[in-house]
Amino acid sequence: MKKIAVLTSGGDSPGMNNAIRSITRVAMKNNIEVYGIYQGYKGLVNGDIKKLEYSDVSEILSKGGTILESSRLPEFKKPEVVALAVSKLKEHQIEGVVVIGGDGSYRGAEELNKLGIPCIGVPGTIDNDINGTDKTIGFYTAVFNIVDAVNKLRDTSSSHHRCFVVEVMGNNSGQLALHSAIACGSEIVVTKDTKNNADEIIANLKYQEEVQHKKHAIIIVSEKIMDVEELAKRISNETGFSGRSLVLGHIQRGGSPVPEDRLLASRMGKRAVELLLEGKGGYCVCIKKDQLVDLPIKEALLEENDKDIQLYRLFEDLV
Ligand code: F6P
Repeated sequence: MKKIAVLTSGGDSPGMNNAIRSITRVAMKNNIEVYGIYQGYKGLVNGDIKKLEYSDVSEILSKGGTILESSRLPEFKKPEVVALAVSKLKEHQIEGVVVIGGDGSYRGAEELNKLGIPCIGVPGTIDNDINGTDKTIGFYTAVFNIVDAVNKLRDTSSSHHRCFVVEVMGNNSGQLALHSAIACGSEIVVTKDTKNNADEIIANLKYQEEVQHKKHAIIIVSEKIMDVEELAKRISNETGFSGRSLVLGHIQRGGSPVPEDRLLASRMGKRAVELLLEGKGGYCVCIKKDQLVDLPIKEALLEENDKDIQLYRLFEDLV
């Protein structure tokens, strides 16, 4: 293998740059040229492909986002679009591609792989929702960002007897909500797995206020589950707290990656190059019990099993 390419796709995540840097440097050590594909699959189809030099990946390890930029291209399932992408790769004599992204990006990698372009997936998403890997690149930083924001809200919460209802990202996964709820010491967490409705949340909050004498309250809610503004209004009307809502939004995805994400991305980037050299197209890099393992992309796309029962119990024990 003489030439490989790397792209980032889907929502950017902190640590993607560390993966790009690792892939580029490890490949260069193995006398392989590396091409950067800009703006994900959209850039691939448009032929936005440039050779990366050693210095292109210098000074990027502390930067959030992705120097290669990203996009979402739902059309990438159409055979004619995938065929166009293959022709662009062939034009540049690129023999393998590393795709850094989430499940949507992995689907694109699978399509390319089927058409004979060996592709390796590296899990880059704050959502931590990819089957087979304990962690995805960006998750640790997003949890850090949420905790940092909630620490500040807590000051106002305890000074004004307020309850903040904070909506966090995660797409359909409750991972960001659960991990940050434990780390923030939140009073209530709401995810697709907790299945607590607004009535139950209000009753729980009243109990914590009246029986446990809580003077502050934070509720972390996973996105796409309930209207946090509505819940905050009900809290003002039905409890002793005044309710406020906050949708944290893209703040969670930004900023310099924390060391755990930098390290994870560097390890995974190196393994991705090794997999291409071993001729294992169609695989993705995972981490299990702190060991890197390889998994067919197809398996990474299966519905994730809930592996968090212990963490939910821990949350309950700490409230
Ligand atoms: O997949 C990462 C993520 O941040 C999700 O948590 C969120 O649902 C989505 O992307 C937001 O996407 P966009 O940045 O396109 O609005």
